[in-house]
Amino acid sequence: PPASVLGERLLDWYRRNARTLPWRAPFGERTDPYRVWLSEVMLQQTTVPAVIPYFQAFLARWPTVTDLAAAPLDEVLTAWAGLGYYARARNLHKCAQTIATWRDGTFPATEDELHTLPGIGTYTAAAIAAIAFGQPAVVMDGNIERVMARLFAETEPLPQGKKALYARAAQLTPTAHPGEHAQALMDLGATLCTPRKPACGLCPWRDPCLGRRLGLAETLPAKAPK
Ligand code: ADE
Repeated sequence: PPASVLGERLLDWYRRNARTLPWRAPFGERTDPYRVWLSEVMLQQTTVPAVIPYFQAFLARWPTVTDLAAAPLDEVLTAWAGLGYYARARNLHKCAQTIATWRDGTFPATEDELHTLPGIGTYTAAAIAAIAFGQPAVVMDGNIERVMARLFAETEPLPQGKKALYARAAQLTPTAHPGEHAQALMDLGATLCTPRKPACGLCPWRDPCLGRRLGLAETLPAKAPK
């Protein structure tokens, strides 16, 4: 089926099955960039259940990026304790200060500008652009790579196969609801299209999924031997 049909099927599924998470707005509404940024940085190396209480605590204590920028670094690091990877907290604070000082507390709205900020890499820039600003940015992470590899039965091993998976994801990215599309892919990868024993019977893409039709789903993505 064409990309638009696959995308609609995914969004229909997401309307009904989206996980309720504190950084998510109702379908069709945007989350403010501060919340998107804070959640995505926390989620970089930490699981969703572990992040939720930290996200709530940071938001209660520092409701805006300007508040976070004004906090002493050691307080931010203490509040971060338990999440690990402290470079993320240092970059978080530095990024908040950059936005507070140079942009009057306003997040940039394009992927390229976001990418120039401390701690904001390709993934985070795309996620903020899509979820907070409604831009058709291509959001790629390990879970979305797995979903693409299966849906299109891309058998080239990673890491060489990443380019083809990115191209597949780009082709699927819609101009309407790109933030929901990205988060739907995340939820699909987290809840159904899991690394082991994927729940293909419940998947909105069970019919078009080439990996499933070829009996390859659970074996994808292939990895190059080390
Ligand atoms: N993992 C990273 N970002 C996420 C998001 N926005 N929703 C759910 N899981 C995520």
